[in-house]
Amino acid sequence: MVVSLLITNIGQLLTMQGAFPRRGKAMSELGIIRNAAVAIDGDRIVAVGAAADLEKQCGPARCPVIDTHGALVTPGLIDPHTHPVFSTTREDEFEMRLQGKSYMEIAQGGGGIRRSVRDLRSTPVSVLLAKARLRLDRFLEHGVTTIEAKSGYGLSTESELKQLEIIRELDETHPVDMVPTFLGAHEFPDEYRENREGYIHLLIDEMLPAVAERKLAVFSDIFCEEGVFDNAQSRRIQEAALKHGLKLKFHADELASTGGAELAASLKAVSADHLVYISDNGIAALAASGTAAVLLPGTSYSLGSKKYAPARQMIEAGVVVALSTDCNPGSNNSESLAMMMSLASVQMKMTAAESMSAVTVNAAYAVGRDDIGVLAPGKLADLVIWDAADVRELPYHYGVNLVRTVVKRGELAIVCD
Ligand code: NIG
Ligand code: FE
Repeated sequence: MVVSLLITNIGQLLTMQGAFPRRGKAMSELGIIRNAAVAIDGDRIVAVGAAADLEKQCGPARCPVIDTHGALVTPGLIDPHTHPVFSTTREDEFEMRLQGKSYMEIAQGGGGIRRSVRDLRSTPVSVLLAKARLRLDRFLEHGVTTIEAKSGYGLSTESELKQLEIIRELDETHPVDMVPTFLGAHEFPDEYRENREGYIHLLIDEMLPAVAERKLAVFSDIFCEEGVFDNAQSRRIQEAALKHGLKLKFHADELASTGGAELAASLKAVSADHLVYISDNGIAALAASGTAAVLLPGTSYSLGSKKYAPARQMIEAGVVVALSTDCNPGSNNSESLAMMMSLASVQMKMTAAESMSAVTVNAAYAVGRDDIGVLAPGKLADLVIWDAADVRELPYHYGVNLVRTVVKRGELAIVCD
Protein backbone atom coordinates (compact mmCIF):
# COMPACT_ATOMS: atom_id res chain seq x y z
CA MET A 1 0.00 0.00 0.00
CA VAL A 2 1.43 3.39 -1.03
CA VAL A 3 0.73 6.00 1.66
CA SER A 4 1.68 9.68 1.63
CA LEU A 5 0.26 10.47 5.10
CA LEU A 6 -0.85 8.30 8.03
CA ILE A 7 -3.05 9.76 10.76
CA THR A 8 -3.00 7.49 13.76
CA ASN A 9 -3.77 7.05 17.45
CA ILE A 10 -7.26 8.44 16.79
CA GLY A 11 -9.46 8.00 19.88
CA GLN A 12 -12.81 8.33 18.08
CA LEU A 13 -12.88 8.18 14.28
CA LEU A 14 -16.25 9.05 12.74
CA THR A 15 -16.06 7.42 9.31
CA MET A 16 -19.73 8.22 8.54
CA GLN A 17 -19.82 5.00 6.49
CA GLY A 18 -23.35 3.57 6.10
CA ALA A 19 -26.58 4.89 4.62
CA PHE A 20 -26.30 7.76 2.11
CA PRO A 21 -28.13 10.01 2.74
CA ARG A 22 -29.20 9.41 6.36
CA ARG A 23 -32.85 9.54 7.42
CA GLY A 24 -34.47 9.03 10.84
CA LYS A 25 -32.56 6.80 13.25
CA ALA A 26 -29.74 6.30 10.74
CA MET A 27 -28.75 9.94 11.41
CA SER A 28 -27.41 8.74 14.78
CA GLU A 29 -25.06 6.21 13.18
CA LEU A 30 -21.57 7.61 12.75
CA GLY A 31 -19.54 4.55 11.65
CA ILE A 32 -17.29 4.93 14.70
CA ILE A 33 -13.91 3.18 14.96
CA ARG A 34 -11.94 3.56 18.20
CA ASN A 35 -8.12 3.44 18.36
CA ALA A 36 -8.16 4.07 14.65
CA ALA A 37 -5.99 5.32 11.81
CA VAL A 38 -6.55 6.79 8.34
CA ALA A 39 -4.11 6.18 5.48
CA ILE A 40 -3.98 8.72 2.65
CA ASP A 41 -2.26 8.64 -0.71
CA GLY A 42 -2.24 11.94 -2.61
CA ASP A 43 -5.69 13.50 -2.36
CA ARG A 44 -7.55 10.27 -1.57
CA ILE A 45 -8.09 7.98 1.40
CA VAL A 46 -6.66 4.51 0.84
CA ALA A 47 -7.60 2.82 4.12
CA VAL A 48 -9.34 3.36 7.44
CA GLY A 49 -9.21 0.88 10.32
CA ALA A 50 -7.58 -0.15 13.57
CA ALA A 51 -4.40 1.84 14.27
CA ALA A 52 -2.42 -1.30 15.06
CA ASP A 53 -3.25 -2.86 11.67
CA LEU A 54 -2.54 0.24 9.58
CA GLU A 55 0.66 1.05 11.45
CA LYS A 56 1.93 -2.44 10.59
CA GLN A 57 1.33 -1.77 6.91
CA CYS A 58 2.73 1.77 6.75
CA GLY A 59 4.29 2.64 10.07
CA PRO A 60 6.35 5.66 11.11
CA ALA A 61 9.47 4.40 9.37
CA ARG A 62 7.81 4.39 5.97
CA CYS A 63 5.68 7.56 5.64
CA PRO A 64 4.89 10.86 7.40
CA VAL A 65 2.70 10.25 10.45
CA ILE A 66 0.41 12.46 12.56
CA ASP A 67 -0.21 11.07 16.05
CA THR A 68 -3.49 12.64 17.25
CA HIS A 69 -3.00 11.44 20.87
CA GLY A 70 -6.52 10.04 21.16
CA ALA A 71 -8.42 12.87 19.45
CA LEU A 72 -11.78 12.96 17.72
CA VAL A 73 -11.41 12.86 13.92
CA THR A 74 -14.28 13.59 11.52
CA PRO A 75 -14.69 14.17 7.79
CA GLY A 76 -14.08 17.77 6.71
CA LEU A 77 -17.34 19.62 7.33
CA ILE A 78 -19.54 20.64 4.39
CA ASP A 79 -21.59 23.83 4.39
CA PRO A 80 -24.46 23.38 1.90
CA HIS A 81 -25.81 26.98 1.85
CA THR A 82 -23.65 30.11 1.80
CA HIS A 83 -23.61 33.59 0.24
CA PRO A 84 -19.85 34.25 0.66
CA VAL A 85 -19.17 36.84 -2.07
CA PHE A 86 -20.28 40.26 -0.84
CA SER A 87 -18.69 43.62 -0.21
CA THR A 88 -19.61 45.42 3.03
CA THR A 89 -21.28 44.01 6.13
CA ARG A 90 -24.67 45.16 7.51
CA GLU A 91 -24.19 45.34 11.27
CA ASP A 92 -26.33 48.52 11.37
CA GLU A 93 -29.32 46.42 10.21
CA PHE A 94 -28.52 43.88 12.94
CA GLU A 95 -28.81 46.74 15.45
CA MET A 96 -32.03 48.03 13.82
CA ARG A 97 -33.50 44.57 14.40
CA LEU A 98 -32.53 44.74 18.07
CA GLN A 99 -34.60 47.90 18.22
CA GLY A 100 -37.65 46.15 16.81
CA LYS A 101 -37.48 46.52 12.99
CA SER A 102 -38.07 43.26 11.11
CA TYR A 103 -35.85 41.82 8.35
CA MET A 104 -38.67 42.40 5.82
CA GLU A 105 -39.29 46.01 6.94
CA ILE A 106 -35.61 46.79 6.43
CA ALA A 107 -35.70 45.07 3.01
CA GLN A 108 -38.84 46.94 1.92
CA GLY A 109 -37.19 50.22 2.88
CA GLY A 110 -34.43 49.57 0.33
CA GLY A 111 -31.95 47.92 2.70
CA GLY A 112 -31.27 44.21 2.92
CA ILE A 113 -30.39 42.28 -0.22
CA ARG A 114 -30.85 45.32 -2.52
CA ARG A 115 -28.35 47.29 -0.52
CA SER A 116 -25.79 44.47 -0.88
CA VAL A 117 -26.56 44.46 -4.62
CA ARG A 118 -25.80 48.18 -5.05
CA ASP A 119 -22.69 47.61 -3.00
CA LEU A 120 -21.42 44.58 -4.98
CA ARG A 121 -22.05 46.24 -8.34
CA SER A 122 -19.80 49.16 -7.40
CA THR A 123 -16.99 47.11 -5.82
CA PRO A 124 -14.00 46.04 -7.96
CA VAL A 125 -13.47 42.31 -8.51
CA SER A 126 -10.07 42.43 -6.78
CA VAL A 127 -11.67 43.76 -3.57
CA LEU A 128 -14.50 41.21 -3.66
CA LEU A 129 -11.97 38.42 -4.19
CA ALA A 130 -9.84 39.54 -1.26
CA LYS A 131 -12.85 39.82 1.08
CA ALA A 132 -14.29 36.44 0.08
CA ARG A 133 -10.85 34.82 0.44
CA LEU A 134 -10.76 35.89 4.10
CA ARG A 135 -14.17 34.31 4.63
CA LEU A 136 -12.94 31.06 3.07
CA ASP A 137 -9.88 31.14 5.34
CA ARG A 138 -12.25 31.42 8.30
CA PHE A 139 -14.40 28.51 7.05
CA LEU A 140 -11.27 26.37 6.76
CA GLU A 141 -10.04 27.36 10.23
CA HIS A 142 -13.43 26.15 11.51
CA GLY A 143 -13.07 22.76 9.84
CA VAL A 144 -15.14 23.41 6.71
CA THR A 145 -13.54 21.94 3.58
CA THR A 146 -16.38 22.34 1.03
CA ILE A 147 -19.09 24.98 0.71
CA GLU A 148 -21.98 25.58 -1.62
CA ALA A 149 -21.63 29.22 -2.77
CA LYS A 150 -24.42 31.35 -4.19
CA SER A 151 -24.47 34.44 -6.39
CA GLY A 152 -27.49 36.70 -5.85
CA TYR A 153 -25.95 40.09 -5.05
CA GLY A 154 -25.55 41.03 -8.72
CA LEU A 155 -29.11 40.76 -10.09
CA SER A 156 -28.03 41.87 -13.57
CA THR A 157 -26.49 39.59 -16.17
CA GLU A 158 -23.13 41.31 -15.91
CA SER A 159 -22.97 41.37 -12.11
CA GLU A 160 -24.29 37.83 -11.62
CA LEU A 161 -21.62 36.54 -14.03
CA LYS A 162 -19.03 38.63 -12.18
CA GLN A 163 -20.00 36.98 -8.88
CA LEU A 164 -20.01 33.44 -10.33
CA GLU A 165 -16.62 34.05 -11.96
CA ILE A 166 -15.26 35.11 -8.56
CA ILE A 167 -16.60 31.85 -7.09
CA ARG A 168 -14.88 29.90 -9.89
CA GLU A 169 -11.59 31.72 -9.34
CA LEU A 170 -11.74 31.08 -5.58
CA ASP A 171 -12.53 27.41 -6.15
CA GLU A 172 -9.41 27.15 -8.30
CA THR A 173 -7.09 29.06 -5.99
CA HIS A 174 -8.28 28.41 -2.41
CA PRO A 175 -8.13 25.04 -0.59
CA VAL A 176 -11.86 25.17 0.25
CA ASP A 177 -13.85 23.57 -2.59
CA MET A 178 -16.92 25.43 -3.81
CA VAL A 179 -20.13 24.17 -5.40
CA PRO A 180 -21.55 27.15 -7.34
CA THR A 181 -25.22 28.16 -7.32
CA PHE A 182 -26.93 30.78 -9.50
CA LEU A 183 -29.27 32.89 -7.32
CA GLY A 184 -30.35 35.58 -9.79
CA ALA A 185 -33.84 35.19 -8.29
CA HIS A 186 -32.73 36.44 -4.87
CA GLU A 187 -34.77 39.68 -5.07
CA PHE A 188 -36.19 42.12 -7.64
CA PRO A 189 -33.43 44.72 -8.14
CA ASP A 190 -34.11 48.48 -7.81
CA GLU A 191 -34.51 49.03 -11.56
CA TYR A 192 -37.23 46.35 -11.89
CA ARG A 193 -39.39 47.13 -8.82
CA GLU A 194 -42.20 48.39 -11.05
CA ASN A 195 -41.60 45.79 -13.78
CA ARG A 196 -41.32 42.44 -12.04
CA GLU A 197 -42.39 40.51 -15.12
CA GLY A 198 -39.53 42.20 -16.99
CA TYR A 199 -37.01 40.84 -14.46
CA ILE A 200 -38.44 37.33 -14.74
CA HIS A 201 -37.99 37.56 -18.53
CA LEU A 202 -34.40 38.72 -18.03
CA LEU A 203 -33.77 35.75 -15.74
CA ILE A 204 -35.27 33.21 -18.11
CA ASP A 205 -34.21 34.62 -21.48
CA GLU A 206 -30.78 36.05 -20.73
CA MET A 207 -29.28 35.21 -17.34
CA LEU A 208 -29.97 31.47 -17.13
CA PRO A 209 -28.73 30.81 -20.70
CA ALA A 210 -25.55 32.87 -20.06
CA VAL A 211 -24.80 31.03 -16.79
CA ALA A 212 -25.47 27.61 -18.33
CA GLU A 213 -23.42 28.32 -21.47
CA ARG A 214 -20.39 29.28 -19.36
CA LYS A 215 -20.96 26.32 -17.01
CA LEU A 216 -20.73 28.70 -14.06
CA ALA A 217 -23.27 26.96 -11.80
CA VAL A 218 -24.37 23.49 -10.76
CA PHE A 219 -27.55 24.69 -9.00
CA SER A 220 -30.26 27.30 -9.48
CA ASP A 221 -31.75 28.72 -6.27
CA ILE A 222 -34.63 31.16 -5.63
CA PHE A 223 -35.97 33.22 -2.69
CA CYS A 224 -39.52 31.84 -2.76
CA GLU A 225 -41.20 34.02 -0.13
CA GLU A 226 -44.09 36.43 0.45
CA GLY A 227 -43.19 39.76 -1.17
CA VAL A 228 -40.32 38.26 -3.18
CA PHE A 229 -40.88 35.43 -5.73
CA ASP A 230 -44.29 33.80 -5.35
CA ASN A 231 -44.89 30.11 -6.04
CA ALA A 232 -46.04 30.55 -9.64
CA GLN A 233 -43.03 32.77 -10.49
CA SER A 234 -40.70 30.35 -8.68
CA ARG A 235 -42.05 27.39 -10.65
CA ARG A 236 -41.57 29.19 -13.98
CA ILE A 237 -38.00 30.24 -13.23
CA GLN A 238 -36.95 26.89 -11.80
CA GLU A 239 -38.53 24.94 -14.67
CA ALA A 240 -36.44 27.09 -17.04
CA ALA A 241 -33.33 26.32 -14.95
CA LEU A 242 -34.04 22.59 -15.24
CA LYS A 243 -34.17 22.94 -19.04
CA HIS A 244 -30.65 24.38 -18.88
CA GLY A 245 -29.40 21.34 -16.96
CA LEU A 246 -29.17 23.05 -13.57
CA LYS A 247 -30.20 21.22 -10.40
CA LEU A 248 -32.55 22.98 -8.00
CA LYS A 249 -32.45 24.52 -4.54
CA PHE A 250 -35.05 26.73 -2.84
CA HIS A 251 -35.09 29.30 -0.05
CA ALA A 252 -38.48 28.09 1.19
CA ASP A 253 -40.87 28.85 4.07
CA GLU A 254 -38.21 31.05 5.72
CA LEU A 255 -40.38 33.92 6.97
CA ALA A 256 -43.90 32.62 6.30
CA SER A 257 -45.60 29.34 5.38
CA THR A 258 -46.16 29.53 1.61
CA GLY A 259 -45.95 25.94 0.39
CA GLY A 260 -42.34 26.36 -0.74
CA ALA A 261 -41.30 22.95 0.56
CA GLU A 262 -44.10 21.24 -1.39
CA LEU A 263 -43.08 23.13 -4.55
CA ALA A 264 -39.42 22.13 -4.10
CA ALA A 265 -40.36 18.46 -3.64
CA SER A 266 -42.69 18.51 -6.68
CA LEU A 267 -39.84 19.85 -8.85
CA LYS A 268 -37.46 17.20 -7.43
CA ALA A 269 -35.17 19.87 -5.99
CA VAL A 270 -31.98 18.58 -4.37
CA SER A 271 -32.76 20.71 -1.31
CA ALA A 272 -35.28 23.06 0.27
CA ASP A 273 -33.63 25.41 2.74
CA HIS A 274 -34.68 27.36 5.89
CA LEU A 275 -38.16 25.78 6.43
CA VAL A 276 -38.80 27.60 9.71
CA TYR A 277 -42.51 27.85 8.79
CA ILE A 278 -42.84 24.52 6.93
CA SER A 279 -46.34 23.01 7.18
CA ASP A 280 -47.20 19.40 8.08
CA ASN A 281 -47.93 18.85 4.39
CA GLY A 282 -44.52 20.23 3.52
CA ILE A 283 -42.83 17.82 5.93
CA ALA A 284 -44.76 14.90 4.44
CA ALA A 285 -43.82 16.03 0.92
CA LEU A 286 -40.10 16.20 1.78
CA ALA A 287 -40.19 12.86 3.61
CA ALA A 288 -41.71 11.18 0.56
CA SER A 289 -39.14 12.77 -1.78
CA GLY A 290 -35.40 12.89 -2.33
CA THR A 291 -35.35 16.60 -1.46
CA ALA A 292 -33.14 17.33 1.55
CA ALA A 293 -34.05 19.94 4.19
CA VAL A 294 -31.16 22.32 4.85
CA LEU A 295 -31.76 23.98 8.23
CA LEU A 296 -30.10 27.27 9.22
CA PRO A 297 -30.55 27.82 12.96
CA GLY A 298 -28.02 30.69 12.93
CA THR A 299 -30.47 32.70 10.84
CA SER A 300 -33.26 32.41 13.43
CA TYR A 301 -30.68 33.32 16.07
CA SER A 302 -29.28 36.34 14.24
CA LEU A 303 -32.74 37.58 13.24
CA GLY A 304 -33.60 37.50 16.94
CA SER A 305 -36.43 35.05 16.33
CA LYS A 306 -37.61 32.51 18.84
CA LYS A 307 -38.83 30.27 16.05
CA TYR A 308 -36.60 27.52 14.67
CA ALA A 309 -37.30 24.93 11.99
CA PRO A 310 -39.11 21.87 13.41
CA ALA A 311 -36.09 19.58 13.09
CA ARG A 312 -37.35 16.82 15.41
CA GLN A 313 -40.60 16.49 13.52
CA MET A 314 -38.68 16.34 10.23
CA ILE A 315 -36.18 13.74 11.44
CA GLU A 316 -38.97 11.61 12.87
CA ALA A 317 -40.90 11.85 9.59
CA GLY A 318 -37.83 10.60 7.70
CA VAL A 319 -36.71 13.83 6.00
CA VAL A 320 -33.01 14.05 5.00
CA VAL A 321 -31.83 16.87 7.30
CA ALA A 322 -28.64 18.90 6.75
CA LEU A 323 -27.34 21.98 8.61
CA SER A 324 -25.69 25.13 7.29
CA THR A 325 -24.50 28.58 8.37
CA ASP A 326 -26.29 30.58 5.61
CA CYS A 327 -23.16 32.81 5.88
CA ASN A 328 -24.27 36.18 4.42
CA PRO A 329 -24.09 39.89 5.31
CA GLY A 330 -27.76 40.19 6.32
CA SER A 331 -29.55 37.39 8.10
CA ASN A 332 -26.53 35.52 9.53
CA ASN A 333 -22.86 36.41 9.31
CA SER A 334 -20.99 33.36 10.60
CA GLU A 335 -18.55 30.77 9.22
CA SER A 336 -18.87 28.34 12.13
CA LEU A 337 -20.75 25.10 11.50
CA ALA A 338 -19.84 23.98 15.02
CA MET A 339 -21.83 26.96 16.34
CA MET A 340 -24.76 25.85 14.14
CA MET A 341 -24.47 22.36 15.68
CA SER A 342 -24.71 23.93 19.12
CA LEU A 343 -27.81 25.95 18.14
CA ALA A 344 -29.27 22.80 16.56
CA SER A 345 -28.86 21.00 19.89
CA VAL A 346 -30.20 23.69 22.20
CA GLN A 347 -32.91 25.17 19.97
CA MET A 348 -33.96 22.24 17.77
CA LYS A 349 -33.14 19.32 20.10
CA MET A 350 -30.88 17.57 17.61
CA THR A 351 -28.25 15.30 19.17
CA ALA A 352 -24.56 15.77 18.42
CA ALA A 353 -24.65 12.61 16.30
CA GLU A 354 -27.61 13.86 14.23
CA SER A 355 -25.88 17.21 13.75
CA MET A 356 -22.69 15.48 12.65
CA SER A 357 -24.64 13.53 9.99
CA ALA A 358 -26.21 16.86 9.00
CA VAL A 359 -22.85 18.58 8.31
CA THR A 360 -21.16 15.60 6.62
CA VAL A 361 -23.09 12.92 4.69
CA ASN A 362 -26.38 14.77 4.43
CA ALA A 363 -24.64 18.04 3.55
CA ALA A 364 -22.71 16.17 0.82
CA TYR A 365 -26.04 14.89 -0.50
CA ALA A 366 -27.47 18.44 -0.39
CA VAL A 367 -24.64 19.67 -2.65
CA GLY A 368 -24.92 16.70 -5.01
CA ARG A 369 -21.59 15.07 -4.06
CA ASP A 370 -20.80 11.52 -2.94
CA ASP A 371 -16.99 11.78 -2.77
CA ILE A 372 -16.93 13.85 0.45
CA GLY A 373 -18.51 13.67 3.91
CA VAL A 374 -17.39 10.05 4.43
CA LEU A 375 -13.99 8.63 5.38
CA ALA A 376 -13.60 5.51 3.25
CA PRO A 377 -11.16 4.23 0.59
CA GLY A 378 -11.52 6.21 -2.63
CA LYS A 379 -13.11 9.29 -1.02
CA LEU A 380 -11.37 12.69 -0.92
CA ALA A 381 -8.92 12.99 1.99
CA ASP A 382 -10.70 15.89 3.72
CA LEU A 383 -10.71 15.55 7.51
CA VAL A 384 -10.57 17.42 10.79
CA ILE A 385 -8.60 16.56 13.94
CA TRP A 386 -10.44 18.17 16.87
CA ASP A 387 -9.30 19.39 20.24
CA ALA A 388 -11.92 17.03 21.67
CA ALA A 389 -12.19 13.31 22.33
CA ASP A 390 -15.93 12.77 21.86
CA VAL A 391 -18.36 14.13 19.26
CA ARG A 392 -20.75 15.27 22.03
CA GLU A 393 -18.21 17.90 23.06
CA LEU A 394 -18.73 19.89 19.85
CA PRO A 395 -22.21 21.38 20.53
CA TYR A 396 -21.58 21.46 24.28
CA HIS A 397 -18.25 23.38 24.26
CA TYR A 398 -19.50 26.22 22.06
CA GLY A 399 -18.37 29.67 20.97
CA VAL A 400 -14.70 28.68 20.71
CA ASN A 401 -12.90 26.99 17.85
CA LEU A 402 -12.05 23.36 18.73
CA VAL A 403 -10.40 22.62 15.37
CA ARG A 404 -6.79 21.50 15.80
CA THR A 405 -5.75 20.33 12.32
CA VAL A 406 -7.47 20.32 8.92
CA VAL A 407 -6.39 18.02 6.09
CA LYS A 408 -7.74 19.10 2.70
CA ARG A 409 -7.25 16.81 -0.32
CA GLY A 410 -4.46 15.04 1.58
CA GLU A 411 -2.54 18.23 2.41
CA LEU A 412 -2.17 19.88 5.81
CA ALA A 413 -4.26 23.04 5.41
CA ILE A 414 -4.54 24.19 9.04
CA VAL A 415 -2.23 23.15 11.88
CA CYS A 416 -2.95 24.69 15.29
CA ASP A 417 -0.52 22.77 17.46
O1 NIG B 1 -30.78 33.03 3.25
N1 NIG B 1 -33.35 34.93 2.43
C1 NIG B 1 -32.64 35.29 1.53
N2 NIG B 1 -31.31 35.25 1.50
C2 NIG B 1 -30.46 35.23 2.64
C3 NIG B 1 -30.29 36.58 3.22
C4 NIG B 1 -29.49 37.43 2.33
C5 NIG B 1 -29.27 38.84 2.83
O2 NIG B 1 -30.01 39.34 3.71
O3 NIG B 1 -28.32 39.45 2.29
C6 NIG B 1 -30.92 34.18 3.61
O4 NIG B 1 -31.38 34.46 4.73
FE1 FE C 1 -29.61 31.98 2.18
